[in-house]
Amino acid sequence: MAQERPACALEPEQIQRLLRCCQEAKKSAYCPYSHFPVGAALLTRDGRIFSGCNVENACYALGNCAERTAIQKAISEGYKDFQAIAIASDLKDDFISPCGACRQVMREFGTNWAVFMTKPDGTYITKTVQELLPASFGPQDLHNI
Ligand code: THU
Repeated sequence: MAQERPACALEPEQIQRLLRCCQEAKKSAYCPYSHFPVGAALLTRDGRIFSGCNVENACYALGNCAERTAIQKAISEGYKDFQAIAIASDLKDDFISPCGACRQVMREFGTNWAVFMTKPDGTYITKTVQELLPASFGPQDLHNI
């Protein structure tokens, strides 16, 4: 049986491209309430990158995270097979970690893909969606009734 392709089998150049792209996306963040800019860069299986930033709202609850902005852009352009997403913030001492809502939205499109959580200096840690959201609820579960 063919082995499942590991989620993190990305070329170093591709990782660097993704990291640059999420830092660039952070510059567009609209975050007048939190003053916490976040950028994301989502890599499709065929090598395209969709970027996103957080977009806040005066009605606070309507704000959207950078990760979901990027995913919504990709889906709305017809792409739903993802290899990786990279996330950037201004946090100096911590790798930015996606919120629970974003983890669930990532999981909708598979569990075996990579999340690169970065610091502004370009260092990162990576985990799969499965690792970030174990024992998750997903599309298949709706068919098991
Ligand atoms: N935020 C993101 O965009 N992504 C994350 O991974 C964490 C939090 C945004 C939401 C809000 O606009 C601001 O950061 C503060 O929570």
